[in-house]
Amino acid sequence: MAKDAVADGSGTAGEPASRQPKRQREEGRKTSAIFVAVLIGAAAVFAAYMMSHSEDARGRGRYAAAMPALRTVAAQLLHPEKGILAADESPKTFGARLAGHPNKPSLRQTWRHILLTMPGLEAHISGVILHEETFAQAADLAAARAAGVLLGIKLDNGTAPMGPKQAGELHTRGLEGLASRCAPFHTQHGAAFAKWRAVFRVGPHTPSKAAIRRNAKDLASYAAAAQKCGLVPIIEPEVLADGDHDLSRATNASVRVLRGVFRALKKRGDVDVGAVLLKAAMVTPGSSSAVAATPEQVANATLRVLLGTVPRALPGVVFLSGGQSEELATTHLEALGRLAAERRAAGKPLPWALSFSFGRALQASAMKQWLAGDVPAAQQALLGRAAANALAQQGRAPQDPAAAAAAAAAAAAAAAAVP
Ligand SMILES: *[C@@H]1O[C@H](CO)[C@@H](O)[C@H](O)[C@H]1NC(C)=O
Ligand SMILES: *[C@@H]1O[C@H](CO)[C@@H](O)[C@H](O)[C@H]1NC(C)=O
Ligand SMILES: *[C@@H]1O[C@H](CO)[C@@H](O)[C@H](O)[C@H]1NC(C)=O
Repeated sequence: MAKDAVADGSGTAGEPASRQPKRQREEGRKTSAIFVAVLIGAAAVFAAYMMSHSEDARGRGRYAAAMPALRTVAAQLLHPEKGILAADESPKTFGARLAGHPNKPSLRQTWRHILLTMPGLEAHISGVILHEETFAQAADLAAARAAGVLLGIKLDNGTAPMGPKQAGELHTRGLEGLASRCAPFHTQHGAAFAKWRAVFRVGPHTPSKAAIRRNAKDLASYAAAAQKCGLVPIIEPEVLADGDHDLSRATNASVRVLRGVFRALKKRGDVDVGAVLLKAAMVTPGSSSAVAATPEQVANATLRVLLGTVPRALPGVVFLSGGQSEELATTHLEALGRLAAERRAAGKPLPWALSFSFGRALQASAMKQWLAGDVPAAQQALLGRAAANALAQQGRAPQDPAAAAAAAAAAAAAAAAVP
């Protein structure tokens, strides 16, 4: 009994046998105190590790030191009232937009001439992404540059099948010789930035780990090569909207893809993520999904994905339109802009700028007008879309399209009047 009482610390004082157990007891206490201290220390180290490795910092490696000249270009592209025009369609894709008109190089050149020499383009367009064919037809590049519009070069060579184990999945070609291929676009043609697109299909078993790993690694290799060539890389890991998947499956795929991409960028160690732009798909249900999502749900899901995956050091996310109509792309962008503005007002601003890099959602109406022979109407249509999206990205309702077009036309007339 007494022994038990001593052992559990309630022993009677003065008992001779109690001295020895008392020392043991104190040593025991000392030992457990040290043990607890070690535990607390370990927990603190673990917590610090988790904090520094949570979300964006997840994974091994580090980003390269700041590249100030490239960061300046990235900031120019992310002007709060401007976005990026993606006019880098491959000849084949361009042909698909021509509604039966013959797809000749001269026709593509004519359209790109209209874009690059459009009076007032610089009001709401910070940069234009071009296909290398347009750089080869170089005549109009200087005009755009002189107007203050930055030029971008699409550096990827399109997609190819992954392999038999990843049926239906694609990887992007063009890494071979990229380091030497990209330099002249900057040194000879004055390009300031570049683009590389990878695509991911959402299906029952896709995107697969293998497809994410391969494309993420290649996007990171491209980003490093572009920065070495003096170009700000836009990385475009596009999660495609094709399919009948719902919003939660789109969310899952987007998180896994973006995590993989930033992990790969960090693993390399030679990319300044502060001089990279992410061109991302908005997170939407598949285009043939039975369940629609409101613009608010799309914006919420998109921001949740980005906040969980994109490092704070990245300067900006520019959204692709991915087959959305002009109006829908603008409506989604406006919902995103509103959420960003609400967070700013609540003292929790997003770490990166949000903007647009639309292709079809800027050009569709304009091309229709052009193909019908009305170039002034084509210019007005494009400037109107750009103006509407510039407002939308700030969370401001685009004026009705007619008013926006009129404002843009006035800006164009003013610009044209300047000798
Ligand atoms: C594809 O890559 C080759 C070199 O590998 C290059 O010469 C060619 O211009 C590229 N084409 C496109 C459309 O990017
Ligand atoms: C995506 O879904 C799979 C299958 O349901 C799940 O195991 C995985 O944890 C999910 N990943 C994310 C990032 O949500
Ligand atoms: C999305 O909506 C949920 C629930 O309404 C909210 O708690 C969350 O903060 C929203 N996320 C963002 C990024 O706005």
